[in-house]
Amino acid sequence: MTSGLEDVVAAETVLSDVDGRNGRLIVRGVSLDKLVVESRFEDVVGLLFEGFFPDGGAIGRALGEARSAVFAEMQADAAVVAMPPVEGMRALLARLGDGDDLATALRLVAAPAVFCTALLRLGKGLAPVPPEPGLDHAVDTLRMLHGPMPSSEQAQTLNRYLVTVADHGLNASTFAARVVASTQAGLTSSVLAALSALKGPLHGGAPGPVLDMLDDVAAPENAPQWLENALARGERLMGFGHRVYRVRDPRADALKGAVRMLAGSGAIEPRRLALAEAVEAAALELLKQRKPDRPLDTNVEFYTALLLEALGFPREAFTCVFAMGRVAGWIAHAREQAVEGRLIRPMSVYVGPVPQVAA
Ligand code: ACO
Repeated sequence: MTSGLEDVVAAETVLSDVDGRNGRLIVRGVSLDKLVVESRFEDVVGLLFEGFFPDGGAIGRALGEARSAVFAEMQADAAVVAMPPVEGMRALLARLGDGDDLATALRLVAAPAVFCTALLRLGKGLAPVPPEPGLDHAVDTLRMLHGPMPSSEQAQTLNRYLVTVADHGLNASTFAARVVASTQAGLTSSVLAALSALKGPLHGGAPGPVLDMLDDVAAPENAPQWLENALARGERLMGFGHRVYRVRDPRADALKGAVRMLAGSGAIEPRRLALAEAVEAAALELLKQRKPDRPLDTNVEFYTALLLEALGFPREAFTCVFAMGRVAGWIAHAREQAVEGRLIRPMSVYVGPVPQVAA
């Protein structure tokens, strides 16, 4: 048996290729470096959906209209608002009907941005801001969060983040989406399963704890000792290591570039960035010493933490923002699985007690 299904191939996909040896990510034939500088999130949704839905390649204004439709039907009651944001978002998503068509898919892509921003505002006693369907998804998301229009740097940064995380091979949440899709349960069911998998700290729940770590380290000179102590307690360093990458996660560099841009515009204090870079350098050094046989490098979550903090998302909502981008990949994979795949039903090896045989 392969522990954690490491290296097991469980699907063929045309959607993305994670090259862990060379640190490269390709989304439908386009490299991540090109995608992050040239594409709006809407374009990447179209790229992923093309061929999986009639008219799936031309998203245009349809995503904005889906935001408005989801907002109009949202019923965020007090119980949902009181939940941690990712759980509140999951509860609201569960109220969307199941379906396999493009309209359902677009509502599911629109919903995380609408629900997350509304829940955060309601949690602070503020009224949700209705979407503006003519705006780009990243621009409108920041507008729905804060009220005023974002600066072009803020909008570009969120767009870059959403594009960077939109799809990434057969990660745990995408696999969960495909398992559910293989039963023909419908797209909403797939997205709910995926979000539940994303929430864990070993997957999409890491960037909040990255900020907790930075706060606790407090000053660059404390980093080596703080990290030593964490490893001595048997803890994992959040934002480092990956199942597939044996070199640096290319998404970390895509986001570090955006973080530097924000720092250049004054949205991130130079001291905060210097602290993060000192923690990163100390962690890489320590992990190299401790695990010489297992290359552990910076992953996507480390700079995500700084980026989302600078955009004004609270750390407890970071997983919701991850879902805003990754939902595009979940849906495309779910469609690919439902259309082309078979029911996913692996085997287990029984290692429990055997019944007593009567003498
Ligand atoms: N800090 C310290 N040690 C680590 C780390 C880390 N971040 N990551 C792996 N290791 C160690 C493990 O303890 C293990 O050591 P052992 O063999 O002595 O027990 C060894 O490296 C191999 O680790 P595995 O758990 O086998 O690696 P796996 O592929 O299962 O885990 C994972 C990958 C979950 C991402 C892991 O590196 C981790 O826990 N990282 C921290 C959490 C994190 O950043 N998650 C976000 C990942 S990116 C994403 O999902 C979007």
